[in-house]
Amino acid sequence: MSRKLFVTTALPYANAPFHVGHMMEYIQADIWVRFQRMCGHEVLFVCADDAHGAPIMIAAENAGKTPQAFVAEIASGRKEYLDGFHISFDNWHSTDGPENHALAQDIYRHLLKEELIAVKSVEQFFDPVKSMFLPDRYIKGECPVCGAKDQYGDSCEVCGSVYAPTDLKNPYSTLTGAAPVMKSSEHYFFQLSSQRCLDFLKHWTSEPGRLQPEVLNKISEWLKVDEQGHGGLADWDISRDAPYFGIEIPDAPGKYFYVWLDAPVGYLASLKNYFDKGGAKAKGELQSFDEFMADPAVEQIHFIGKDITYFHTLFWPAMLHFSGRKTPDRVFVHGFITTSAGEKMSKSRGTGISPLRYLDIGMNPEWLRYYIAAKLNSHVEDIEFNPEDFMARVNSDLIGKYVNIASRAANFINKRFAGVLRFASDTAPLVDGARATVCSVRESYEAREFGKALRDIMAAADRINVEFDAAQPWILAKDDSRREELQDICSRALQGFKLLSVLLAPVLPALASRVARDFFGLEREFAWSDAEVLPIRVAPYRHLMHRVEEKQLDALFAPPAATGAEPPPAGIIALPLPGGEAIAPTIAIDDFAKLDLRIAKILACEKVEGSTKLLRLTLDVGEPAPRTVFSGIQSAYTPEQLVGKLTVMVANLAPRKMKFGLSEGMVLAASHADAKHYPGIFVLEPHSGAVPGLRVR
Ligand code: 2FM
Ligand code: ZN
Repeated sequence: MSRKLFVTTALPYANAPFHVGHMMEYIQADIWVRFQRMCGHEVLFVCADDAHGAPIMIAAENAGKTPQAFVAEIASGRKEYLDGFHISFDNWHSTDGPENHALAQDIYRHLLKEELIAVKSVEQFFDPVKSMFLPDRYIKGECPVCGAKDQYGDSCEVCGSVYAPTDLKNPYSTLTGAAPVMKSSEHYFFQLSSQRCLDFLKHWTSEPGRLQPEVLNKISEWLKVDEQGHGGLADWDISRDAPYFGIEIPDAPGKYFYVWLDAPVGYLASLKNYFDKGGAKAKGELQSFDEFMADPAVEQIHFIGKDITYFHTLFWPAMLHFSGRKTPDRVFVHGFITTSAGEKMSKSRGTGISPLRYLDIGMNPEWLRYYIAAKLNSHVEDIEFNPEDFMARVNSDLIGKYVNIASRAANFINKRFAGVLRFASDTAPLVDGARATVCSVRESYEAREFGKALRDIMAAADRINVEFDAAQPWILAKDDSRREELQDICSRALQGFKLLSVLLAPVLPALASRVARDFFGLEREFAWSDAEVLPIRVAPYRHLMHRVEEKQLDALFAPPAATGAEPPPAGIIALPLPGGEAIAPTIAIDDFAKLDLRIAKILACEKVEGSTKLLRLTLDVGEPAPRTVFSGIQSAYTPEQLVGKLTVMVANLAPRKMKFGLSEGMVLAASHADAKHYPGIFVLEPHSGAVPGLRVR
C-alpha cells in the first residue's frame, strides 16, 4: 500500500549560511525521502528558515538592516547548497511568513481555551540604554569565583566555574556596555507541568516505534518525578517582551512568542504554503492542506539533531495535541558530524568543512552523500569526517567496485555485441543473492541503517566482480567459439550493475539518473522495482565518476589564507560584518599609545593540566627574566607548533591571578566573533628580522 509521508528537517536559524552539520541532516533525510519515493510512496518534504528571535534581531541591527531584509538575504543563499548537494525539498519557506503567524496564533488560542496558559511575573536583567530585556548570552561580567573579566553569564572560560548570570560581578550588557538592572514583567507560560500534559506525554512518547530507544531513555529521565516531588517538566516560558522579532501574542500587547514556540509551527506553515501555491496538487495530491493534515493515513516525520530533542519530543507534540492537531508519528534523532576529533586534520588542515568550498573546488557532492550515508545508522551517534577514510571509501567502493563493473563489461558488449545483452539462461540470470540483497537493503533504508545498506550493496558488488573475473572474459574474447559465454557473463555483470545502481540511487541520485537514462536508455528515473528487471541493451560506456584526489582534500581543509580565496574558514559565505562584528568605536592615538605591544619569543609552551582551553607560554620579551602568560589557544595549536616562534604580546596588561597561576600579559591572536560557525584562532607572528623586546607601534 502506498504511504503518505510528510517529512521535515529542522529549520535552520536565518542568521548564518549552512555548515556541514546542516548538510548532513539534509542528506540523511533526503536519502530516506528518495528511497520512499522510489518505492512509490507519496512524500511531501519541506523545510524553512527559522527567522525569529533576539539574536537575529540584533544581528540585523548590527548589519544596518531590517530583520526581514537580513533574513531574506540569508534565505537567498540557500538554493546553492540545496541544489549543489541534490537535496530534494518540495518547499522552502520562512517562519516569518503569513501562514506561520496565523497557525502559531491559532495553536496558542487553543491552548488558552484548554486553560494551559498561565501568566506569571518574571524578574530578569534589563538593558536600560537599549530598553530591552537581555537574554543571558548578552550579559558578561567578572567571574564570581576567580574574578576573570568578560565572562559569560553561565560559566567562566578561565576557571571553569558554573553560575547564574545574576552571580556575575559588575555585569554589563554586551549590546551597549551598560550595567543591567533587574526588572520584572509578565510572561506567558505553557503549563507543561500540568498532570494532563504529563499524562499525554508519557503516553505519546512510549508509543512503540515512535522514538529511538536511547531517546526514550532520555525522556524518561526528563519526565521522572522523585518521591520528594522534584524533577519533571517545568512550565515553559513562551513569551518575550518587545522589542522582539517574532509573532505577536493575541490580546497581549507588547508580547511576542518566544522563537521556539513558532519555529516548529513553521513545519506546518511551509507545508501549507506549498499546498496554497499549488505545489502539492501538481504532484498529484488532491486534498487541501487541512484535509491532508486531518487524514489519519498521513505520517508526520521530523528529522532533527540530538540537541533539540527536548523541543520536538515534549513541547511540540504537547502543543499539537492540546490544540487538537495531529501529532508527529516519528521523530528521527541523529548525532553531530565532527571534523576535528583528535585528528591531525585539525592541526595541519584546519578545522571544519565548508560545503560551498567543497563544491567550488570541484569536489563531487555525491562523494559526500556516499561517505555520510556509509557512516550513518539509526542511532543517536556522532559521526566523524576523516579525510583519509573519505578518500579510501569513495575510491575503493564507488570507483573500484561499482563503476568499474560497468566500464569493463560494457566495453565487450559494445565492441562485440552492438550493445545487446543476452543471458544464457532466462531462469537464473541474476547474480547470486541479488534478491536477498534487494530485500535487506530495502529494510535497511527504511530503518535508516544506511551504513548497513551500503555494506550490503558493496558486498554484492564484490560478488559481481568476483564472478566476472572468475569467468575470465578477456580469455573468452580471444576464442570465437565462446562468444555466447562472453555475452552472458558481461550481461550478468551489467544486470548486476543495474541492480547496484537502483539500490544506490537514494544516495547517488544524479549518477543513478545518468545510468538510467544514458546508459540503460530508460526514459525516466529508476524506481525500486527496476532492481530486478533485466536490462536489454546498453549505450557505450561514458565516464561516470572521478576518483577523489589528495590535493582536493588539502584544498578543502587549507586555512583560508593559504587558498587566497574568500575569507570565512568553515562558515561558508561572508557574514555582512568583517570577522562577524562591527568595527569598534574610533579611538585617539593617545588611547593606542597606552598599549605597550612587544615582540616576544616563545621559549617554552605546555598544556595546562585541568584545562581544555589554555596553554602556558614562557615568553622572552627582552627583559632579564621571562614571563608566563596563559592563553586560550589550546584548540588551535600544539605546544610544538609554537615553541621557538616569535609573536606579539601586550606587555603592560595588569598581571592577572588565575586558577593555574599568574598571567603576566596577553598574546595577540585573531578569531571570528562567531567561533562556533567560524572556528580558528590565529596567533600573530612578525616578519623575519624582528627580535624579542621590540615595541609594536
Ligand atoms: O536549533 C536550531 O537550529 C533551530 N533553528 C531549529 C528549529 S527546528 C524547528 F522547530 F523549527
Ligand atoms: Zn573564573
